[in-house]
Amino acid sequence: MKVIITKDQKAAGVEGYKVFADAIKNGAKVFGLATGSTPVTTYEEIVKSDLDFSNSTSINLDEYVGISPDNDQSYKYFMNEHLFSKKPFKNSYLPNGLAEDPEAETVRYNKIIADNPIDLQLLGIGRNAHIGFNEPGTSTELETHVADLTESTIEANARFFEHVEDVPKQAYSMGIGSIMKSKKILLEAFGEDKADAVAKMIEGPVTKDVPASILQKHDDVVVLIDEAAASKL
Ligand code: GLP
Repeated sequence: MKVIITKDQKAAGVEGYKVFADAIKNGAKVFGLATGSTPVTTYEEIVKSDLDFSNSTSINLDEYVGISPDNDQSYKYFMNEHLFSKKPFKNSYLPNGLAEDPEAETVRYNKIIADNPIDLQLLGIGRNAHIGFNEPGTSTELETHVADLTESTIEANARFFEHVEDVPKQAYSMGIGSIMKSKKILLEAFGEDKADAVAKMIEGPVTKDVPASILQKHDDVVVLIDEAAASKL
């Protein structure tokens, strides 16, 4: 793992942008994208830049089950707000939160990933070291699946909703099996409340109880963190 430590999240945005710019220079065409507060500064720098995605494909990591794409808490809405409305891609894929048949939706999504192998996957990390919605204990072989969110993830995500009861209890998520197939991975983490997860991911044993620790086995991972998130290394 290559670890880059910046002063704060704003400075990290520039480094995140550079990872995208380099990947494009090296021919990357398919980008795995993430939501949450973490990737926002990277998206801001990308938006300010002259990077062009009009011939590229994006495939998002996850989406809540039962939420419509125009709900302002959907990940589709987030992506439009922060990136797609300003930097359009040729094709942008997200799981459909309103799919009638969840099993068929996971099959559809896995086919999209198989047909468009991901060149660069951007990831955040949960406080319990989940990636996507692969919570501790999830098999590392899984492809896209419907995940039950843990109480800690529901609580962490409640800040985006009016009431904690409004936070969906399930989400479609790429599995760790799908994530590990990406050619390159950029994982970002900022703030002190991510410091434990970051230390376990980088320095702890590889175990499914710390989902992000599996990234130690991938041969091209950049971990981009600020000083606060690096404080327990
Ligand atoms: C959610 C998402 C993850 C994200 C995590 C951290 O659970 N499914 O993909 O990495 O939250 O979110 P944040 O970046 O807001 O801290």
